[in-house]
Amino acid sequence: MEKKIVLTGIRPTGNLHLGHLFGAAQTWLKMQEEYDFYLEIADVQALTDNFHDPDKVHRNVFELTSDLLSIGIDPNKVHLFVQSQISEIAELTVFYSNLVTMARLYRNPTVKTEIAQKKTLFGNNGESVTYGFVGYPVSQAADITAFNGELVPVGEDQLPLIEQCREIVRKFNSIYGNVLKEPEPLLSKTPRIKGLDGNEKMGKSLGNAIFLVDDEETINKKVMGALTDTNKIKKDDPANPDVCMVYYYHKLVNSENVDNICKECKQGLRGCVACKKELALKMNEFLKEIRKKKEYYREHPEEVFETLKVGTEKAQQKAKETMAKVKTAMKIDYFERIK
Ligand code: TRP
Repeated sequence: MEKKIVLTGIRPTGNLHLGHLFGAAQTWLKMQEEYDFYLEIADVQALTDNFHDPDKVHRNVFELTSDLLSIGIDPNKVHLFVQSQISEIAELTVFYSNLVTMARLYRNPTVKTEIAQKKTLFGNNGESVTYGFVGYPVSQAADITAFNGELVPVGEDQLPLIEQCREIVRKFNSIYGNVLKEPEPLLSKTPRIKGLDGNEKMGKSLGNAIFLVDDEETINKKVMGALTDTNKIKKDDPANPDVCMVYYYHKLVNSENVDNICKECKQGLRGCVACKKELALKMNEFLKEIRKKKEYYREHPEEVFETLKVGTEKAQQKAKETMAKVKTAMKIDYFERIK
């Protein structure tokens, strides 16, 4: 049986953190064994709200790719590629842009929320929002369909974008003939990973993230500053582990000891400082291998770009096949017809 095609993308705007790893990337590591997996470094999409800072996007293509390789994404199993180098995606975006109304794009909940959040860039009421940003769901539909993506692993916030893609596919097929496949979203089963400050979401811009490439000292410092039960004053006060971020992360990287930790904490037999020290130790142990690999890639950046180049070339072959079908369906294959 043919393997199903899975496609997902990630914007190169920062390093991977624990939220990415436990929320998404661990699923990718499993998927690379079972599916025909396309993993896109979405640099064009990153530019839609970072167009003024090309250095940031450039730097993070290296950072993100080497982070992914360090956690075990295997370029022999995954088509790991960079969006901007596949011109077919840009072409499809132009064709699809006729199939979406402006009203529909403005109504997209994900886009709407993001415009509202980016006041510095797009104005208080979104009055300076760019054409490119409003249209990024169209470009994302091109990301998916260029490779015939059937399953798209995403978080909940991305569902409106997948729905938009499905609408574009239906519209395309109804006008030009049955060429494109409607993708299905594959919702992440793991819940969002909380931040050091107890925020429901861990995020770079929230300043509450533990990055996979943080060094030992940084980890120690961050863990020491993590939110604990604020009602606990003295070291032998009993406390509630369920409101404590230190306990929360113990569950991720120190699962064999959590029952004990929970009991001791509730009985007031566990001081927060000792508990944090233990967590920092376990966290550093957990990140050791990843860090070592990252160190290697830092010393061999050319290897990272070579890997990305090979993956991009492979992905491009697939995009070219789609493009040929699309152009024929749209009757813009003039020179194919005279061959
Ligand atoms: N929009 C996604 C995010 O911000 C990233 C992305 C780009 C993507 N292209 C994609 C996700 C294609 C799924 C499919 O996380």
